Amino acid sequence: MTIAAPLTPWACETAGPVRPMTGSAVPLRALDLFCKAGGATKGLQRAGFHVTGVDIERQPRYCGDAFVQADALNPPFDLTSFDFIWASPPCQAHSPLKAVTKKEYPDLIPQTRAMLQASGRPYTIENVVGARLRDPVRLCGGMFGLRTYRHRDFENSFLVWRPEHPRHTALTSTKKRKRDFEAGMHISITGDVGSWCGPACMGIDWMTGDELSQAIPPAYSEYIGRAAIDYIRHRVAA
Ligand SMILES: C[S@@+](CC[C@H](N)C(=O)[O-])C[C@H]1O[C@@H](n2cnc3c(N)ncnc32)[C@H](O)[C@@H]1O
Repeated sequence: MTIAAPLTPWACETAGPVRPMTGSAVPLRALDLFCKAGGATKGLQRAGFHVTGVDIERQPRYCGDAFVQADALNPPFDLTSFDFIWASPPCQAHSPLKAVTKKEYPDLIPQTRAMLQASGRPYTIENVVGARLRDPVRLCGGMFGLRTYRHRDFENSFLVWRPEHPRHTALTSTKKRKRDFEAGMHISITGDVGSWCGPACMGIDWMTGDELSQAIPPAYSEYIGRAAIDYIRHRVAA
C-alpha cells in the first residue's frame, strides 16, 4: 500500500486503456472514490481488480493496492486511466439520522454522477436506501449469508442482475448487541458498535468500529465487481 501525498499524479504512470482479461498478466484497474478503510475495495480486489482508493482523510488501515489522499470530486489524475470506477459519497444527506441531528449535509451524488459520466468509464455509485440513485440494485446481507441485513443501493452504468431477496427471518438486535449476537441474533451495524461483529456480520476483520459502521460488506462490491468485469470483457471482445 502506498500513502501518497495529495495531488501526486502517480496514478497516470502505468495506467492505460481497457485491457482484455484473457491471457493478460496485468489486472484491470479500479478506482474506489470515498474509500475510507476499504470495505468496497476489498470486494473489488476479490473480484480481480487492482484497486486505488481516494479519500480526503488519511486512512491508515486502507486495505487496497494504492491510496491517494485527495478530494474525490477533484481527483489529481485522469479518470480514464481506470477500467472501472466505484464511488461511495457520504450518506449523511440521505440517512434517517439526519432527522435526529437536524444538520444539513451536502448531497454529493449529482456531482459525483456528472464526473463519472463525463469519464466515459463504467461506474457504480453506492449509497443508503433513500438516496436519489437511478434505477438502483438493492443488496442485502441475507443474500450473502451475513448476520446483518444492511440494505444498500447501487447505481450501475452497466447491467447488474438483482439477486433474489431472501425473507428476513432472523431477529435483529439494535441494543445490547454483543449479548444478542452471542444468543444467535442478527445485529444492526450503526454507530460505533465495535469491531467484534466485523467478521460474521460484514466479512471485515481489519477495521475499527467507526470504520466498520460506515463500510459496506465486501461481498456486495465483489458481486458488482464481477458484473463489471464481465461487462468490460465483453466490450473488449465486441
Ligand atoms: C461512507 S464512507 C465510505 C466507506 C467505504 N465505501 C467502505 O465500504 O468502507 C465515506 C468516506 O468519504 C470520505 N469523504 C468525504 N468527502 C470526501 C471528498 N470530498 N473527497 C474524498 N473523500 C471524501 C470520508 O472521509 C469517508 O471516509
